[in-house]
Amino acid sequence: MHIPVLLQEVIEGLALTAGLTVLDATINGAGHSAEISKRIPGGCLIGLDRDRTALAKARQRLQNAPCRVILKQGNFRHLDQILDTLQIVSFDRCLFDLGLSSDQLAESGRGFSFLKDEPLTMTYEVEPVTITARTIVNESSAADLELTLKEYGEEPFATSIARAIVAARKKKKIETTKELVAIIRSAVPAWYRSARRRKHFATQTFQALRIAVNDEFRALTEGLNHGWRYLAPGGRLAVISFHSGEARIVKKIFPDHRKIKPTRTEIKNNPRARSAVLRLIQKS
Ligand SMILES: C[S@@+](CC[C@H](N)C(=O)[O-])C[C@H]1O[C@@H](n2cnc3c(N)ncnc32)[C@H](O)[C@@H]1O
Repeated sequence: MHIPVLLQEVIEGLALTAGLTVLDATINGAGHSAEISKRIPGGCLIGLDRDRTALAKARQRLQNAPCRVILKQGNFRHLDQILDTLQIVSFDRCLFDLGLSSDQLAESGRGFSFLKDEPLTMTYEVEPVTITARTIVNESSAADLELTLKEYGEEPFATSIARAIVAARKKKKIETTKELVAIIRSAVPAWYRSARRRKHFATQTFQALRIAVNDEFRALTEGLNHGWRYLAPGGRLAVISFHSGEARIVKKIFPDHRKIKPTRTEIKNNPRARSAVLRLIQKS
């Protein structure tokens, strides 16, 4: 079960009141939105997600919400078109909770987790409309792979992992997460593979591929810009990021923001919160 990160801080930071219109641009199973909906009776909650299966969970969880609920499958990079189709001209509050949920990691069957043996898909959409991780590992040049692992994963062994991927695929197409993990294992030094390290040796490669497959950084830039344009004057926008690349984008677009980190207790109860940062922005 996905535990929403920085829930209390989001609720307080958004200063929710009856009648408001709120956009949750990454609603997933409505962890945040279940609480948001209770605080906007008579208002409207618009929930968006790329993942259709997540939206089904949100729908169920919000069935008794005291506000109007509109759920839509889609990419927030197309937020302008989505809102225009829904004939929504503005909203008062907005949340972007980036990355993927614990449920997607554990049970999507789409290859997000290096601890599972699944096809290398890594798309948020159930039916991939973009390239998949399989395409990237089997078709990108060694130089492009290396750049992806460096830029999106900050992977210190990007060069040797990229080379190992290219060597392995000459013998056999890389199809599953298990095959990819074995290739990464062969390309990194023993200390990096040690169980004593806090991070698994495949973490950064998997993160980089997920970001590349979903074009997450460009989508975020476009999504935040659209979100800002549709935010009503006096409105508030909240972004939870988990990655320095995401944080850079948020800071660049919104240099003026309030920054909030999870408490030690939250991190203890929910390890996913470890790298989370909430940024709150108010439109004057
Ligand atoms: C961390 S989860 C959100 C969890 C949610 N706040 C909760 O507490 O239940 C992030 C969600 O964003 C979705 N997502 C990622 N990129 C997206 C994009 N560009 N447009 C729309 N949804 C996206 C993912 O499918 C995932 O469901």
